[in-house]
Amino acid sequence: MSTAHVRIADIARHDGQTVTLAGWLYNLRKSGKICFPILRDGSGMIQCVALKANLPEETFETLKSLTQESSVKITGKVRAEHRAAGGYELDVESCEILQRVPEETPYPITPKEHGIDFLMDHRHLWLRSRRQFAIGKVRHEVIKATRDYFDDNGFTLVDCPIFTPAACEGTTTLFEVDYFEDEKVYLTQSGQLYNEANAMAFGKVYCFGPTFRAEKSKTRRHLTEFWMVEPEMAYATLDDVKTLAEGLICFITQRVLANRRAELAVLERDVSKLAAITGPFPRISYDEAVEILRRKGSAIEWGSDFGGTDETLLAEEFARPVLVEKYPAQVKAFYFQPDAERPELALGVDMIAPEGYGEIIGGGQRIHDYNLLLQRIEEHHLPKEAFEWYLDLRRYGSVPHAGFGMGIERCVAWMCGLEHIRETIAYPRMLYRTRP
Ligand code: 4AD
Ligand code: MG
Repeated sequence: MSTAHVRIADIARHDGQTVTLAGWLYNLRKSGKICFPILRDGSGMIQCVALKANLPEETFETLKSLTQESSVKITGKVRAEHRAAGGYELDVESCEILQRVPEETPYPITPKEHGIDFLMDHRHLWLRSRRQFAIGKVRHEVIKATRDYFDDNGFTLVDCPIFTPAACEGTTTLFEVDYFEDEKVYLTQSGQLYNEANAMAFGKVYCFGPTFRAEKSKTRRHLTEFWMVEPEMAYATLDDVKTLAEGLICFITQRVLANRRAELAVLERDVSKLAAITGPFPRISYDEAVEILRRKGSAIEWGSDFGGTDETLLAEEFARPVLVEKYPAQVKAFYFQPDAERPELALGVDMIAPEGYGEIIGGGQRIHDYNLLLQRIEEHHLPKEAFEWYLDLRRYGSVPHAGFGMGIERCVAWMCGLEHIRETIAYPRMLYRTRP
């Protein structure tokens, strides 16, 4: 008998052998002479078969009365079973209980339906469910693909600070933190400004970390803490951003389709929708987007930003993500390079995902001229002192440069086909949720 335990994910390599699995009881079916404990171990699930006739009385009774989510090691013989989900079952020989969940305080999440608030309050346990497990695996795949895409294309990872002295994306959505000796700092909204400095040192960079927005929006697309990956390139323009963003999304989609089919099946994701995500993506201007929206009955006026409903309406027109470019400068942040022909437009682009998932990428070309940048900082009433170092980038070897940010959670929600962004991160932070 082996002492070290085998991962359920590796079970195929042990066909016919006696192995020990270490996990938790996910579910249990039983009748008088046989019981079927379903074990999960964080790598997969397997049905075990315990026959009363083949086991010591005590072992059989222990298993038969085992409670949901008790921790248990089960030893038995691996048997190929084509009807089983993973292709194998385990014929139980012995078991060792590490902790038996008492009957009086049963595991709170049962196979019956629970309300979303209850599940969110028990998020630390809910993560063990089949569905949350599948989402977590897709998230991991999206992040791995994102990193590989940049790593394999000449980008250097340079992480940016979380405590920052100034706003990047507007002063109304900053979380203020008490630092030392009366100094105030803010939780970062984006690593972009630092990324721009890093790009002048490394050429092509990306940062990937948590970002924060004190947005009082209670929508299915907003978190107050979310993870953003942000590439930035020196000697680059708006066109380079569009190409890079499209390449990234195609790469992520292919990876998820190639490696996470089983998880997508658990989530009942319509994979044909993802298989249709190939380049080139449609590209339209803000002007054209407004025309489409008005034709579809939206009351949007030229010059205002798109709301969530506008994004959904726009996405209905396309089976693939759509790139919307050249927004009115007034709806965009202070750092956008203006269009040479129509300076009232910002050289920015948003990628709107299909199926109503909204904006997943936002970015564009940055102002590289010192005087113009200074003017914008003043127009936006931003504190010049805090931006001196940022202005330095325009004093010492300034070049056109561009980049974007992709919200990991929005991308994962779309890949998984989820109703709400809250399930895409282990511990979501939202307007009315900071626990557990
Ligand atoms: O469009 P945003 O605000 O762009 C920036 O922050 C730029 N500084 C990025 C850059 O150019 N380096 O945010 C980028 C993306 C959005 O497209 C969206 O996917 C995600 O971040 N995002 C959010 N995701 C979840 N909850 C929120 N409250 C989000 N706000 C933005
Ligand atoms: Mg945006």
